[in-house]
Amino acid sequence: MKTETTIQGLTASLAPARTTKKLIGFVPTMGNLHEGHLTLVRAAKKICDVVVVSIFVNPIQFGAGEDFDSYPRTLEQDSRLLADVGCDIIFAPSVEQMYGKHPRLTNISVSQITNDLCGESRPGHFDGVAVVVTKLFNIVQPDYAFFGQKDYQQLAVIRQLVQDLNIPLEVIGVPIVRAADGLALSSRNGYLSEEERIAAPTIYQLLKQAEAALGEGQALSQVLANISIELTQVGFVVDYVEARQPNLQPIEQFDRDLVLFVAAKLGSTRLIDNLQIDFKI
Ligand code: PAJ
Repeated sequence: MKTETTIQGLTASLAPARTTKKLIGFVPTMGNLHEGHLTLVRAAKKICDVVVVSIFVNPIQFGAGEDFDSYPRTLEQDSRLLADVGCDIIFAPSVEQMYGKHPRLTNISVSQITNDLCGESRPGHFDGVAVVVTKLFNIVQPDYAFFGQKDYQQLAVIRQLVQDLNIPLEVIGVPIVRAADGLALSSRNGYLSEEERIAAPTIYQLLKQAEAALGEGQALSQVLANISIELTQVGFVVDYVEARQPNLQPIEQFDRDLVLFVAAKLGSTRLIDNLQIDFKI
């Protein structure tokens, strides 16, 4: 496994794979890797010859007062984990390498599907993601790129971006990896106190209860309100509890597949989760 910190170095490392037309898989991350990230790498290994994982804490997707400075940077530990799952190349550029060369005058903004959910509470966040992911796509030029459904709205934004701008690669979505107690794995889970970590799986438990309640014919509005109330009771500050069609459009028919979305803060830690609900008619 190689680690490259410059665009030039990465390009050189990938040159043999490109000339021999090997399939290149790409997993963008911000590091502090866990089993969720590693599952993306394993999915990439299954269908690609060469797998590149980027580790870059992207300053322009963090808002003022968010955790850019405190975001865990654990390159050594990440490298060991990536070597174990057969990653071929780590791309770990500096902020200078990604943004320092010229002043950036171009923004990339995916409209409509970024207007609500996390887009509403984190203004500018998805523009920052769209810019860095487009830059990384152009640097790595992969055949396949892998993203987790944990960040469902982000995955939708990337799919839209790739389609709208004719970026020549295929986006693969990978299901959410959870801890044994149901908590969706996240680098931010490390911020939770012992007590908060015990309360955190409530989000998933309530999503599963909501699924059962909807199956029994309870009204969606009531089910969503219940999630909110119960999260508040165990100490969360709820950002949103919403339901959307899988394409993120508002629900029109209540007997069709839908996705439930939750974002809530436990202390200073913002957690997100979602659950896709398939109605078998
Ligand atoms: P990061 O939060 O490090 O996540 C990297 C990738 O891992 C994303 O595609 C995310 O959805 C996926 N992932 C995280 N936790 C997961 C879990 N429990 N199950 C499945 N997949 C999971 O998302 C980002 O970084 C950044 O926004 C990035 C795309 C790298 C752009 O900076």
